[in-house]
Amino acid sequence: MPGESTPLDRNLRTPLTRNIHGDAAVSLEAYRNNGGYLGLQRALDMVPENITALVQEAGLRGRGGAGFNTGLKWSFVPGNDQYSGPRYLICNADEMEPGAFKDRYLLERDPHLLIEGMLIAASAINASTAYIFIRGEYHLAAQRLSHALEEAHRAGLLGKRILGRDFSLQIHVHRSSGNYICGEETALLNALEGRRAIPRTKPPFPQVSGLWGKPTVVNNVETLCNLPCLLALGADWYRQLGREDDAGSKLFGVSGRVNNPGVWELPMGTPVREIIENHARGMQPGFRLRGFLPGGGSTDFLAPRHLDLPMDYDVIGKAGSRMGTGTLMILDDHTCPVGLVLNLQRFFARESCGWCTPCRDGLPWVVEILERIEAGRGEKQDLILLRQLARRMAPGTTFCALAPGAAEPLQSSLKLFLSDYLAHIVQRGCPYGHSARPQSEPACAH
Ligand SMILES: Cc1cc2nc3c(=O)[nH]c(=O)nc-3n(C[C@H](O)[C@H](O)[C@H](O)COP(=O)(O)O)c2cc1C
Ligand code: SF4
Repeated sequence: MPGESTPLDRNLRTPLTRNIHGDAAVSLEAYRNNGGYLGLQRALDMVPENITALVQEAGLRGRGGAGFNTGLKWSFVPGNDQYSGPRYLICNADEMEPGAFKDRYLLERDPHLLIEGMLIAASAINASTAYIFIRGEYHLAAQRLSHALEEAHRAGLLGKRILGRDFSLQIHVHRSSGNYICGEETALLNALEGRRAIPRTKPPFPQVSGLWGKPTVVNNVETLCNLPCLLALGADWYRQLGREDDAGSKLFGVSGRVNNPGVWELPMGTPVREIIENHARGMQPGFRLRGFLPGGGSTDFLAPRHLDLPMDYDVIGKAGSRMGTGTLMILDDHTCPVGLVLNLQRFFARESCGWCTPCRDGLPWVVEILERIEAGRGEKQDLILLRQLARRMAPGTTFCALAPGAAEPLQSSLKLFLSDYLAHIVQRGCPYGHSARPQSEPACAH
């Protein structure tokens, strides 16, 4: 039975943060003393197909935003009987989504958890080379990762014949040059190959033709950090960590005018209200919650009536939004929703790779209209135009999900905060006393 001979306690509820007690990085010694690298040992006792099947059965869903079943994703990599060339594993640590900071927490504080997770994933897909593609600004995380990689090498946990088995892995840290689009998995592949970071057509999917045309798996940091305990303690243990349908625990973050902004590991399916009230300790005195983006800046706003929803991929999806990164952004009653959406759209417009028209030309147009409205020069027709532009950025209309993601806070704010948009137009100014300052740099980088 998985877990019986390990010092890892089956009552463990916080596998992602169990080693983290402060700001410092967990050393290899401390990591091993707390049951670290036992998941790897168990994986190395299994045939790769069984690791993939176990992860699929556990119901681990990718934590990078889309929530696709991780084991199922790995199962698309051709097996040894079909293909004998190189395969690659990539850890996506680009984390540039507005509002997201959960991966940084893991990267800086427990780099061995990620390294062990990558070893397990690489053994499942038969990869002997892996890359950590890390956001350029994450200097501390990159430094701590490099140190942990050296520690792992010295201990025989990386390199050739790991733990004496017929399995070798090299992990390289690659610093991103700094565009949000580099986090999109196929643009990331181009960036790693030294090309312009624009998304590739899918199919073929990276699992079949990825880095340098070879089978490649791209997984998020948090996804990979789930693997060590999952392997050590088994699929049943992992499934029961969640409270609703979705399995496992999750790093949930909260930002905005709450008393205790931060990030916490909680069961998948923890209700939004519990996250905000118990962990973020509620709204600051004098501030009322008006709405929230449940999964970062590229998700739809939800309303106070959604506060009792569990943070579970399907439930949040049915309510009209997305779990995304699981990092909640709170809108309070002193903050102008038009101004907030304008800031997000400025970010997305600047980060567009420029490949398709609704994104390259549509987003700067959205910014221009929102600036006009926020400055008190908007007209009612502008709202119709904004809705049309949001529709033209819907899924399926552009090459990648950047523009559809940008459309989500825009279109939902036009429904939820329509009275605020109208007040700007009727009162000829921002009712919150803001005025849209033109940016020092243009909304579009092209
Ligand atoms: C514009 C854009 C940026 C993205 N940035 C990230 C990122 O920084 N980190 C990440 O894990 N996924 C990011 N994604 C999602 C990835 O394309 C991909 O789905 C994810 O890395 C897969 O990992 P998972 O299966 O473990 O979730 C981004 C997607 C888009 C469209
Ligand atoms: S949606 Fe935007 S970022 Fe994505 S490919 Fe098109 S132009 Fe590039």
